[in-house]
Amino acid sequence: MSYSEQHDEPTVCNLSETRKPVEPCTIVIFGASGDLTARKLIPALYHLAKDKQMPPAFRIIGFARREKTDESWRAELRAALDQFSRTKPVDEQVWKDFSAKIFYCVCDLTDAAAYQKLEQQLTSFGSAPLRKNLLFYLATQPSQFGAVVEQLHNAKLLHRENGEHGWQRLVVEKPFGHDLASAHALNTELTRYAHESQVCRIDHYLGKETVQNILMFRFSNSIFERLWNRESVDHIQLTVSEKLGVGERGGYYEEAGALRDMVQNHMLQVLSLIAMEPPVSLEAESVRDEKVKLLKSIRALTPSDVAKQVVRGQYFAGAVDGQPRPGYRQESKVNPASNVETFVAMKLLIDNWRWSGVPFYLRTGKNLPQSASEVRIQFRPTPNVLFAAQCGEKLDANALTLRLQPNEGISLHFNGKVPGIGTSVRPVRMHFSYNAEFGAYTPEAYERLLLDAIVGDATLFIRRDEVETAWQIVDSIRAGWEGKALTNREFYAAGTWGPIAADDLLAQSGHEWHEPQVIK
Ligand code: BG6
Repeated sequence: MSYSEQHDEPTVCNLSETRKPVEPCTIVIFGASGDLTARKLIPALYHLAKDKQMPPAFRIIGFARREKTDESWRAELRAALDQFSRTKPVDEQVWKDFSAKIFYCVCDLTDAAAYQKLEQQLTSFGSAPLRKNLLFYLATQPSQFGAVVEQLHNAKLLHRENGEHGWQRLVVEKPFGHDLASAHALNTELTRYAHESQVCRIDHYLGKETVQNILMFRFSNSIFERLWNRESVDHIQLTVSEKLGVGERGGYYEEAGALRDMVQNHMLQVLSLIAMEPPVSLEAESVRDEKVKLLKSIRALTPSDVAKQVVRGQYFAGAVDGQPRPGYRQESKVNPASNVETFVAMKLLIDNWRWSGVPFYLRTGKNLPQSASEVRIQFRPTPNVLFAAQCGEKLDANALTLRLQPNEGISLHFNGKVPGIGTSVRPVRMHFSYNAEFGAYTPEAYERLLLDAIVGDATLFIRRDEVETAWQIVDSIRAGWEGKALTNREFYAAGTWGPIAADDLLAQSGHEWHEPQVIK
């Protein structure tokens, strides 16, 4: 039985009341003929429209080179929606109204004339807010960001200031560069004609309910926060494991690897939310200030630290759930002698008052036995007297697990007496499940993120200094791998939990990885 069923009226504190209003606007998607638009962006915007979250008036313009008409694009998007929508069937009336607001512009984004055409299209909407309030979604190669921003500026569609010109925002997604220098260059291009506050850098992990809940959980409860420090916490484990291999994404993955693909962004974001100090307010800048402060206090790794504290791995042929999987080097578009890592595990230390000496273990990989993301706060064991003295290592230490996906929830693990005449102790758990408490409704990450971009709430977007600090951490790890080919110890069979060295990394400190249990 859920809390709300047992208590007539749970008190809900609604923070959305202070939310900025959603103003009429046009969303322009550059590179609109790609997969992202059909699979994620349009389904998310459709659901926002269905839930009456979209502005009172809006238009969506797809801007891409492929030859299409408004009608043919709408038909394509409809087919994709039937396939990818989180609610089925698609609501015909909602789709009819929604799709009438979608337009397609056949344009080459390097051509100045294309932006005149865009301007005319915007003017044809006959309403000042639809012409001036513009959300530019750059679903293109990052190498094209600079050109698009410059053309928008030249066409007077992008202004640095709000006011008489309405508002304009740029939405971009990873990869934000491939190292600090390239990220810095990209950020400079993005902000050449726009203010930093107009740039929304998406990390889809921040759109996940369970990730957003980390701050609520930590700072709206008093009992956990007072344990959230070096006095009580032994170590913290963050696992983001995936059953999938790289599949068709070999070309991209050869440039990225697990470190750039997952750690630089999603994992360091989750880590910063778990470990940051309470912000002075819930304002976007206060929250982001604390996240940056945390990232900056992660101890820098020298190449010799990398050799001791970071484990990389690459999968060879194996099986996941009984299904054979090829090795990474045999995947399409992958160099048969590739040294790219498909797994990474590391021990990070945070040099601040709260966390000094507490290891943070991170691991992520492809072709692992489970797809699960979770954070495990492992508390210190009890003193070695009484039960601990008798049970030794068999007595579990308390742990709190935040399961980010799947089986979203939070579990507190503690020990209890097994009923009966004898005296035995075993771990039990107290569990909160999102599904049981709130039902199965979970909006897609993009719904929240697109809505925040429309209203101009920057809290869930990554600020420039966050991205760059995260690259500094990742670059120092890459420097430790520079010129070193993978050794035998660094391979793992598809369907296993990574190379043995990942276990050794924890064993050195008397720790071991906790394997996420997934209920099907
Ligand atoms: C993406 C990575 O950013 O995140 C993918 O490029 C990865 O390699 C994906 O599979 C994981 O996201 P999620 O939401 O499925 O955990």
